[in-house]
Amino acid sequence: MCGIVGLTGEQLKVTDLIEALERLEYRGYDSAGVAYLKDSKLNITKSRGKVEVLKNHLGENLDQTIQTGIAHTRWATHGEPNDVNAHPHFDCSCKISVVHNGIIENYRALKIRLQELGHKFLSQTDTEVIPHLIEEYYNGDLLEAVRKAVLKLEGSYAIAVVHVDHPDIIVGARKGSPLVAGMSDSVKAIASDVTPLLKFTKEVIFLQDGELIELSANALKIVGFDGTTHKCQPVTVNWSYEDAQKSGFKHFMLKEIFEEPSCIVSVLTGRIKNDRIVLEELEPFEKMLIDSKTIKVVACGTSYHAALVFKYLLENTTPITVDVDVSSEFRYKRPHLKPDSIVVAVSQSGETADTLESVRLAKRCGAKIVAVTNVVGSTLTRESDCVLYLNAGPEIGVAATKSYVAQLVMLYLLAFKIGQLVNDFVPQSSQLIDKLMRIPEIFENSLKSSDKIRELATKYKEYKHFMYIGRGYGYPTALEGALKLKEISYIHATGYPAGELKHGPIAMLGPEFPVFAIAPNDSLFSKMKSNIIECRSRNAKILALTNHDNQEVTELADDIVFVNNSEEELYPLLMTPIIQLFAYFVADELGLDPDKPRNLAKSVTVE
Ligand code: F6R
Repeated sequence: MCGIVGLTGEQLKVTDLIEALERLEYRGYDSAGVAYLKDSKLNITKSRGKVEVLKNHLGENLDQTIQTGIAHTRWATHGEPNDVNAHPHFDCSCKISVVHNGIIENYRALKIRLQELGHKFLSQTDTEVIPHLIEEYYNGDLLEAVRKAVLKLEGSYAIAVVHVDHPDIIVGARKGSPLVAGMSDSVKAIASDVTPLLKFTKEVIFLQDGELIELSANALKIVGFDGTTHKCQPVTVNWSYEDAQKSGFKHFMLKEIFEEPSCIVSVLTGRIKNDRIVLEELEPFEKMLIDSKTIKVVACGTSYHAALVFKYLLENTTPITVDVDVSSEFRYKRPHLKPDSIVVAVSQSGETADTLESVRLAKRCGAKIVAVTNVVGSTLTRESDCVLYLNAGPEIGVAATKSYVAQLVMLYLLAFKIGQLVNDFVPQSSQLIDKLMRIPEIFENSLKSSDKIRELATKYKEYKHFMYIGRGYGYPTALEGALKLKEISYIHATGYPAGELKHGPIAMLGPEFPVFAIAPNDSLFSKMKSNIIECRSRNAKILALTNHDNQEVTELADDIVFVNNSEEELYPLLMTPIIQLFAYFVADELGLDPDKPRNLAKSVTVE
């Protein structure tokens, strides 16, 4: 997983490349590098570490004006993170330079062949075969040489290429990894996503798999891998450059949690009319939904937890069975799908490799795909039959926060819509829909308890283990709470259905192993209460998350956070900012950077 960027145009400086790279650092940050053309010379600087380290290496060169440049921020796949393996990579003549996101699966065979032809390799990366292949094919036409080279590559990639003989040209190519181009009058740019482009333009082109692009200061040309000319189809993105900044918050993660109320409004806008859910995108599939007995859902990580909430909701309100699979498992199973099957793919990035492969498997069975995603133009959107966009804006923090909330809201809408189609569950749904519309306000309230949550984080931060438990709708929340805590604070945390404790996990509990109990006063509270008592009797500290009216918890827990009273279906939503803030403050109190957790990257575009 990596971030790539390329800029060509007037009045550009090295520092513009660096600034663009900083916008992409969430995609990978174990090393970074730039290659820029100045006075017909290729200059390359790269180093292990974050972009900040690269900046220090560049020193005064940051102010140099350049014609063209490419840059890279890396999340290592082939070869450890070090200066040599950092991108950009270059050919034997040091005239061609390449940045790459993805994996070249046949790089070993290509490397051997190129070595036989006399090419010298310096790194352990799969990427380095690309500049050498281009060197082999180069005959004065860079676009054509890149085209011939990509025909030899197997795997997934987005690349950007420069050549000293073409000082104002960048060539990009995409297969399986995202690549977006943007153009203003003075600058043409290419990047792994739109965020670095927003400084220059809101007019962008999402390249399709199997396309190459040639950008020069004054022109832009797209061709297919077969050499035929393709139409440029720019779209306008509404994200402002400021959207991608921290707006005064210490971290993007905190900012993004505080953006959740407005995200909910964005998801709900135009979706509810007179208690009816409006999802026009679904219309062609309504008959299929009405007839379905089972709906399959595929997702990974946090998106999987959102899918579990959808399962509880739809199964409790309709006769439909919802079968949720982690994408990395589903893609290797016998799918048991038919042409009348509906598969819902949940992925905030729309680029998660396992989810995409699950979708492809489902499509081979003839199933119809409904995508729930945040990223316009992402691969998932192009491969699905219907797309429900979250419109949550860019999420820079690696840990999913506002995108999870947006997913939940969209999945509530989807479940209510299916409920209305299948059994017209209006009386119950109208009450829920009414509450759903008031959720942004309730979220604002919950966020006011952030000081209290910081205090709790300070109190609990030294524990080495955490058990999150919940029942029914509380179970996915327990899983998500544990995931959030472990991924950014590196504290071991595990989520369990509370009823499972006795079947093994309770053996671990004791004074050093606190329990985070998701315990609203819902239909399963009496069961949950017994589970909390079991934990207490093992001397485990109890931190409980409940609703205001549930004073019974006061006798059971060491510490309590309250949220507004609600219908039980909506607690997964209402409790989310609390579990997110708790994880955030623990990480921050431990002096960790919650935006860039170790070993993780924002979109997992490789298996
Ligand atoms: C956790 C997190 C990951 C993602 C997972 C799926 O905070 O962000 O677990 O949820 O990698 O990503 P998407 O939703 O982009 O498919």
